[in-house]
Amino acid sequence: MFEKVRLQITVLTVSIVVCLYVVSSLGIYGLVRHIVIQNVDQSITKVLRSDKGQPGRLLAQLPPGTYILIKQRNQTIQSNAPTNLTMKLERLVNTRPSAQRWTVMWNVPTSDQTFRLTYVPLPRNSRNKTGYWLLVVNLTKEMTVLKELEHSLFMVGIFGVALAAILGFWLAARTLLPIRKAYERQLQFVSDASHEMRTPLAVIQANLGVVLDHTDESVLDNLEWINNAHAESRRMNKLVEDLLTLARSDADRAPLDIQEVNLSELCQATADLFHPVAEASQKRLTAEIQPQVKTLGDQDRLKQLLLILLDNAFKFTPEQGTVTLSVRVDRAYATLSVTDTGTGISSKDLKRIFDRFYQVDSARNRNESRGSGLGLSIAKWIVDAHHGKINVTSVLHQGTTFEARFPLYRG
Ligand SMILES: Nc1ncnc2c1ncn2[C@@H]1O[C@H](COP(=O)(O)OP(=O)(O)OP(=O)(O)O)[C@@H](O)[C@H]1O
Ligand SMILES: [Mg+2]
Repeated sequence: MFEKVRLQITVLTVSIVVCLYVVSSLGIYGLVRHIVIQNVDQSITKVLRSDKGQPGRLLAQLPPGTYILIKQRNQTIQSNAPTNLTMKLERLVNTRPSAQRWTVMWNVPTSDQTFRLTYVPLPRNSRNKTGYWLLVVNLTKEMTVLKELEHSLFMVGIFGVALAAILGFWLAARTLLPIRKAYERQLQFVSDASHEMRTPLAVIQANLGVVLDHTDESVLDNLEWINNAHAESRRMNKLVEDLLTLARSDADRAPLDIQEVNLSELCQATADLFHPVAEASQKRLTAEIQPQVKTLGDQDRLKQLLLILLDNAFKFTPEQGTVTLSVRVDRAYATLSVTDTGTGISSKDLKRIFDRFYQVDSARNRNESRGSGLGLSIAKWIVDAHHGKINVTSVLHQGTTFEARFPLYRG
């Protein structure tokens, strides 16, 4: 698909270049030709006006290679042109109007010469006999130069079109690259999402299948299968919600309700929520909260960010470990950080943990508390949408710190 679009863009670019080039070349060529001919015509007119009665002087004022032919009563009064040329000229004059003045370009048949002819009828004399003057200016040299210009313009055009095709093809590839990447990411996203959904759906189906096989038994007897199906449906619900959040963020359809947010209060409230979780999982939660740290943002999204980071910290910290939630002012920033003494992340994985669906392949990730690898992608989107920055530092088997910085609000 992209190759076809690339080709179409190239063809379009080349067509535009060709059109512009043809129009400008024709313009340049036409203008130069017009100026050359106009100059000759002007000098002829000037000479004719000033010196009509004396052909000898007249000739001296015209460019070298100019012939003059004066005919009266079918007699050649004067001609400095070679005889065969005079005959050709007379033949030409006979085919054209004789009563008025005319000027034409004339490519001499069977020769490569070009002349500018100016025919001036003589006034009828007392015996009503007519005659004419014919001024023949040789423009072969000028026309040769114009031919060379035409040739050069043509060659430059061919070269230009080839260059435009190559450049167009290359530029089209460059322009399409981000779209191509976004498209491929989207395809990957859809395929990963479908893959992630298959597991809970299969588990739900299998567990409900067992229940359906034992319709004679009570709900209590089948509680294990029903619980399994219920847990998976909850997992799927979270997955669908996460997918929806990311899809909306991609389409810029996840508006933020920006207001003053007291991060100190938000962190305290979230820490309170996690104390029972810490206790139940035999881990320690410490909150280091500097008072009155504020930013402008969406309260719910910032809470979601804290939940994602704390959920990970608890998930990847073994029993007796410690999770520290802190909020403080750091120069012009309101800084949130979640530090744990958990499994840590290798530097290889660290580069990819914000990628959608990316999960470190650890024993902990393979057990049933396994998520779908979307949490940190959403966290990053939330931080970016608040014009903040998120950083992670980690030492394998020692612990991890996620730090999010937001512009401080001093209102
Ligand atoms: N505090 C942490 N300590 C160690 N590894 C972590 C930590 N936080 C994240 N990770 C690693 O980064 C991966 C991605 O985290 P993320 O929150 O995006 O997904 P998840 O927790 O696996 O699933 P979800 O959050 O969607 O339920 C995790 O699977 C884990 O391997
Ligand atoms: Mg997570």
